[in-house]
Amino acid sequence: MTASRADSLFLRACRGEATPRPPLWMMRQAGRYLPEYREIRQGVSFLELCKNPALAAEVTLQPIRRFGFDAAILFSDLLVPLEAMGLPVEFTEQGPTLPAPVRTPEDLARVHRFDPARETSFVLETISRLRPALGDTPLIGFAGAPFTVATYAIEGKTSKTFAETKKFFYRHPSEAHRLLATIGEATRAYLEAQLDAGADAVQLFDSWVGVVSAEDWAEFVFPPTAALIAALRARGAPVIYFGNGATTILDRIGKLGADVYGIDWRLPLDEARARLATTATRPFAVQGNLDPAVLLAPAEIIAARAADVVRRGGKRGHVFNLGHGITPETPLASVEALVRAVHAA
Ligand code: CP3
Repeated sequence: MTASRADSLFLRACRGEATPRPPLWMMRQAGRYLPEYREIRQGVSFLELCKNPALAAEVTLQPIRRFGFDAAILFSDLLVPLEAMGLPVEFTEQGPTLPAPVRTPEDLARVHRFDPARETSFVLETISRLRPALGDTPLIGFAGAPFTVATYAIEGKTSKTFAETKKFFYRHPSEAHRLLATIGEATRAYLEAQLDAGADAVQLFDSWVGVVSAEDWAEFVFPPTAALIAALRARGAPVIYFGNGATTILDRIGKLGADVYGIDWRLPLDEARARLATTATRPFAVQGNLDPAVLLAPAEIIAARAADVVRRGGKRGHVFNLGHGITPETPLASVEALVRAVHAA
C-alpha cells in the first residue's frame, strides 16, 4: 500500500486515530439513486453487472467521481458467494431468491467452501481493475456476516419473521452450527482473497442480526462471527462489523473484537460507543450513523443532523456513514448537502 493511502482519512479513522474531519462514505453508495447507475442497469441484469469486472469497477467508481467520497466499496452483492457455496441465486423485482434453500439436515450436503480464485474470479478481477483507478482512495471489500448469509441460505429470500431460520436452529442445532461454521470458513477465504487482490479493509454486513435473542446470539451467532473477525484481523487490515438493528445488544457485540463497529441510526453515536466500550476486547472505532431517511429532508435539516453525528462521533476513530444503505429515492442534492456538511465539520 502507498504511504499516502495508508495515511488516508479513512484508514486513519479505522485505526482509531484523530482526523481533521471524519472520512465519509455511504453504504449502497453505488446504486439506483444515481442516474449513471440506472443507465448502465438498463442494458444488463443485476447479476450480470456483479459478474462483469469492467462494469462492476465502473459503477464502484461512479459515486467516487461524483461526490469524492473518502472510500470506495466493491460493487457486488451479499448473495454472490452463496452461489459459489452451492446455492444458486436469482434476482427478481422482489429482491433476491434462492430456488433451493436449506430446510433439512440433508440439504447441508449441498453447501461447501469454495476456491475464490476459481468460483469468484470476477470479484478479484474487479478489485484488480479498481486498485490503479482509485489512486489514493481506499477500497473496502465486503461480505455478509455468517448469520445474515445463513438467513438467505435457509429462508431463500429476505424474511420478515425469520421463522424458517429459527426453526432450523431449534430443530437441528448441530446442523445449524455446521452451516454457520461452513459459511464462516468460506467467507474467510473469500475476504482474504479480496484483501490479497487489493482491498484495504473489509466490512461484514450483519443486516439481520437484530432479530436474534441474546441466547441464540451467544449460542449460534457469536462463535462463527468472532472466529471470522479474528482470522481476518490477522491479515493486518481493518475489519468493520456492521450489525444492523443491534443497538440493544451492543454490550455483547463489543466482544466480537472488530476494529470498527458500524452503528445503525437507532442510537446516538456517543451512546453506542459507550455501550460497546463496556465489553470491547480492544480499542475500536465507530462508523455511522445518519438515518438514511434524513436524506429525504430539506437541506438545512440534513446539515444540522450531519453536524450532530460529527459532534457525537468525536475527534478520533469516527468514519461518517449512514445508519443503513441509501435508498433509491434519495435526491442527488441531498447527498451533495451531506458532503458539504461533513467537509465543513
Ligand atoms: O454499498 C455498495 O454500494 C456496494 C454494493 C452492495 C449491494 N448490495 C448492491 C446492490 C452491497 C454492499 C450490498 C450488500 C447487501 N445485499 C446486503 C447487506 C447490506 C444491507 O443493506 O443490509 C443485503 C441484505 C443484500 C441483499 C440484497 N441485494 C437485497 C435484499 C436486494 C434487493 C433490495 C434492493 O435494494 O433492491 C439486493 C439488490 C441490490 N444490491 C441492488 C444493489 C445496487 C439493487 C439491484 C438493482 O440494481 O436492481
